[in-house]
Order: sequence, then C-alpha cells, then structure tokens
Amino acid sequence: MRLIYLDNNATTPVDPEVLKEMVPFFSVYYGNPSSPHRLGQEAKQYVKKARNAIARFLCCQEEEIVFTSCGTESNNAAILSALRTTGKKRIVTTSTEHSAIQELCLDLEKRGVEIDRMAVNSLGLIDLEELEKKINEHTAIVSVMWANNETGVIFPVEQIAKICKERGVLFHTDAVQAIGKIPIDLSQVPIDFLSLTGHKFYAPKGIGVLFVRKGSPFEPLIRGGSQEMRRRAGTENVPSIVGMGKAIAILSQRMDEENKRIRALRDLLETRILSEIPFTKLNGDREYRIPNTSNICFKGIDAETLLLDLDQKGICASGGSACTTGSLKPSKVLTAMGLSPLDAKSSVRFSLGRHNTEEEIQFAVDEIIKSVKKIRKTMPKS
Ligand SMILES: Cc1ncc(COP(=O)(O)O)c(C=O)c1O
Repeated sequence: MRLIYLDNNATTPVDPEVLKEMVPFFSVYYGNPSSPHRLGQEAKQYVKKARNAIARFLCCQEEEIVFTSCGTESNNAAILSALRTTGKKRIVTTSTEHSAIQELCLDLEKRGVEIDRMAVNSLGLIDLEELEKKINEHTAIVSVMWANNETGVIFPVEQIAKICKERGVLFHTDAVQAIGKIPIDLSQVPIDFLSLTGHKFYAPKGIGVLFVRKGSPFEPLIRGGSQEMRRRAGTENVPSIVGMGKAIAILSQRMDEENKRIRALRDLLETRILSEIPFTKLNGDREYRIPNTSNICFKGIDAETLLLDLDQKGICASGGSACTTGSLKPSKVLTAMGLSPLDAKSSVRFSLGRHNTEEEIQFAVDEIIKSVKKIRKTMPKS
C-alpha cells in the first residue's frame, strides 16, 4: 500500500544523503574521538567538521555547540543548569510548551520551584507585556519555544530574548520545530540556550544540540568524561553527529526553496479541507506559523477515529504531539488556546515534509473528505 506521510513534526525520515555520509562511521572510521591514535583523531576531525557546519548555519561559534542525545535532554540541561548557576527558584514559561519542558516543570514544582506559565490567546500567542510583568529578581530563566509542535505557531523569540537581556535574566528557547523552517541567526538574537534535535530535520533520532552562548553560566546535566569541553560527558555519537552535520549542510543549500514548495502544498491541503469540508476550522495563528504545519478542527468528529480511518488508507497524520499520543486527554496546547475539550479531541495535525508531492496532497485531501463524510454519516443526529 502506498504511504503518505503527513506527520513530519513527529519525526522525519533520514535523508538518503545523510545516511550515506553516516555509514562509514559505524565500521571504518569507528574511533573514539578522545583516543589519541589516528583512528580517534580522524573521528575527532569529522565531529569538528559537523560542529562547524552547525555553528555556521546558526551564526554562532563552534565552541557554543554542545552535542546531546536529543531535544528533551537539551531542554532539561538548560533549565536545570539555570536553577543551579543562579541559585534562584522561579521559571517563567508558557502553557503550550512541549512535554519535554512541561513535565520537567511539573516535577520541579513538586520540589519547590515556582513555575509561572504564561497564558496564550486563542491564536496561540503570548502577551509580551505579561512577560515583562512576570520577570522579577527571583527568576532563574525564561523558557519559550520558538515554534509550537502542534499548531506551528511561531513565538516572537527575538523580542522575548531582548526583554530577557534587558532584564538580566537567562533565556532558553526550544527551537526543535523551528530549525530548517524559519531562519535562526544567533548573532542577532541574544539567546543564552537553544535546543535542537536531529530527527526533525532528516538526521537520525538520538542526536541533539544545546547551544550555550559563550559567557552564559552553564553546569552540565551529565557528568563523567571531559567530552564537549566538559559540558556533556559521554562518548560522542559520531555517526549521528556526522549525519546531523550533513543534514544541516543540506538545509543551508535548500531551505528557502524547499520551504516555499512545502508552504504551497500545506496551503493547498488547508484551503481544500477548509473550503470543501463543512464545520472545519484552523487552530492557531495563520500568519505567524512555520510553513509545514496545519492543525485543523473537524467539528464533532473524534480525531482518533478519523486518524485510524486515514491510517488504513496509508495516510499518516497526528492528533497532536507524538509524545502524548494514547493519553486520551485533550491536547493541553489546544485547550490552553481556549478550545473546548471536545473541539481539541476533534483536531488533527498535518505536518508536511521534504518528500511530499502535490499529487500526494490532492489524494490525501480526497481521502480525508471521504473519511469525514463516512464518519459524520454514522454519528447520531443532535
Ligand atoms: C517542540 C519539541 N521539543 C522537544 C521535543 C523532544 O525532542 P526529542 O524527541 O529529540 O527528545 C520535540 C519532539 O517531538 C518537540 O516537538
């Protein structure tokens, strides 16, 4: 059966060019970058090359890139470090962060850390005046995601970073869903910490980055060896680091052109669904949005039922964050935006990627229309 993958915010396939670049690092250049012999030093050179590609892409210095195991680890490392280095016990964040921040904050709250979650409006955006009011002398760090994984809504990170800098407070952003979709220039935005993960931009799972600005206080989450300039212990995942470097090199060449194409496909999908299926509504701001994401409420339809039906036709989409699938609870992101639990449970996220074609999108929409009609027919009339 053909597969139409519209769940690229959950994960992306490894790009064949990335995979090709990685393969020799499993069995030919398998040295440990900390080993002084030639095999080790060779591996070290390739880690350096990847670090350089990533730093150039983000407009920062090589030494500011710390390789981690994933986005979740990067988020945990940034927040926990800020609590330790500042000795303060207050975090300002939003109510629509990924569980990699939300769950950490819930745990910290139980341990006596005060968590101040900014509300979002019906479009998923925060009020910067509220942020100004929430920052005080007890604030250890402000953490606001760059783009939301469920709605694609982009937060005004440039302005938030500026506010934090003026107020002398550390600022972290989870840029896991932003990279490759919008420009990130760390020479222009005073961010202290930024989290990335490879598997959202065609690199493998299990490799992440934490950008740590030179001069910003940082204490490692994982201690042991002296890797990553003593900021993250553990032998480097060389094949995946090399893969991430290649994935970034591909983004550097194709990002603008690729996003134009993906945006056109996303708009085609969205426009057709909203105009051809009655009682549908877009969730989140239409304008301040990454180009690949569309979150749509199909009023009265149980999203799980729709997703199962689509899955049987080979169409993969999602009810929200992959990390909360199966929780049977309505999306926290959508309910924070004011959607009723019923509408939140009727919402589906379509997230497009590099491999989607127009023909796939037209086919997927035709099938979505048929599925919705079928499900609505079986629903009791109210
Ligand atoms: C916004 C956001 N932050 C963090 C993560 C976690 O990344 P990882 O799966 O690499 O731990 C994800 C992954 O879904 C995400 O979408």
